[in-house]
Amino acid sequence: MFKELTEIFEKPQPYMHANSTELWNNPHISTQMLGFHLDPNNDAASRKKKFLDKSIDWISGKINLNPKSTILDLGCGPGLYANEYAKRGAKVAGIDVSTNSIAYANKKAKEDKLDIEYINDNYVTRDFRKKYDLITIIHCDYCVLNPDERRVLLEKIAKALEEDGLFIFDVHSDDHFENVREKRSCHYSDSGGFWSPEAHFVFENIFKYSDERIILEKHTVIESMKKFTIHNYIKCFEIDEIKKELADNGFHAMEDYSDISGTAYKRHAKDIALVAKRMK
Ligand SMILES: C[S@@+](CC[C@H](N)C(=O)[O-])C[C@H]1O[C@@H](n2cnc3c(N)ncnc32)[C@H](O)[C@@H]1O
Repeated sequence: MFKELTEIFEKPQPYMHANSTELWNNPHISTQMLGFHLDPNNDAASRKKKFLDKSIDWISGKINLNPKSTILDLGCGPGLYANEYAKRGAKVAGIDVSTNSIAYANKKAKEDKLDIEYINDNYVTRDFRKKYDLITIIHCDYCVLNPDERRVLLEKIAKALEEDGLFIFDVHSDDHFENVREKRSCHYSDSGGFWSPEAHFVFENIFKYSDERIILEKHTVIESMKKFTIHNYIKCFEIDEIKKELADNGFHAMEDYSDISGTAYKRHAKDIALVAKRMK
């Protein structure tokens, strides 16, 4: 018991046991996540509806969206962005690792009579095949990748962009990192909850790695017959650091903002949004 509890509260080396995609594919948790995506007043999985509408307008303006525009949304979730681009006439594809979200996205596209290519796969390993005028990763999903995955993904995005194509994405800033507090807690639920449909314990550990500016959200769930742990690492960036990462991988960061709806960049904003192009 002591050994098991020690393991539960142990701080691992950065990226050890990383398995954040579990959040999106565990049958119970991914259903909860889909509920968050579709709640217009909840920011946890997709941004709130008001922000989302502003963000879609701003992104569409960046490429002068028209019927010839081609867009790839990485980590598209249930298609809240992709469906809107398609309604405005663009040819859209979305990739997401969550089977639940892609099933919803396809159902919604069919209902709305939209021709969207939704792909249920991991965008780090998937071959993109086609070329696009715009590729996006929205809601700071870039931050959950480890350095090798980020390098591989940037290489694939560079190859999949048309000559003047844009890569638009957002990341958490160093200020976000500073504002997160380390935490150790345990909670018991006698019915179901976010982490499990049955009686369970959840051990929540929030660890910070100051040198690398990484946050780890480590959740260990213990049910009567099963125990599992989700390690979700979140890398936060200084603005020069993310611009250098782009430059090292063949991108030029043309514009920076405080969020993905085009708010002007401010030093202490919690997120950074970037508009980048492939270097010529
Ligand atoms: C925070 S949500 C954002 C969803 C969407 N971009 C939005 O703003 O509405 C992150 C999404 O990325 C997906 N995702 C995470 N890692 C992924 C990966 N390696 N490959 C494909 N999808 C991934 C998740 O399933 C989830 O739908």
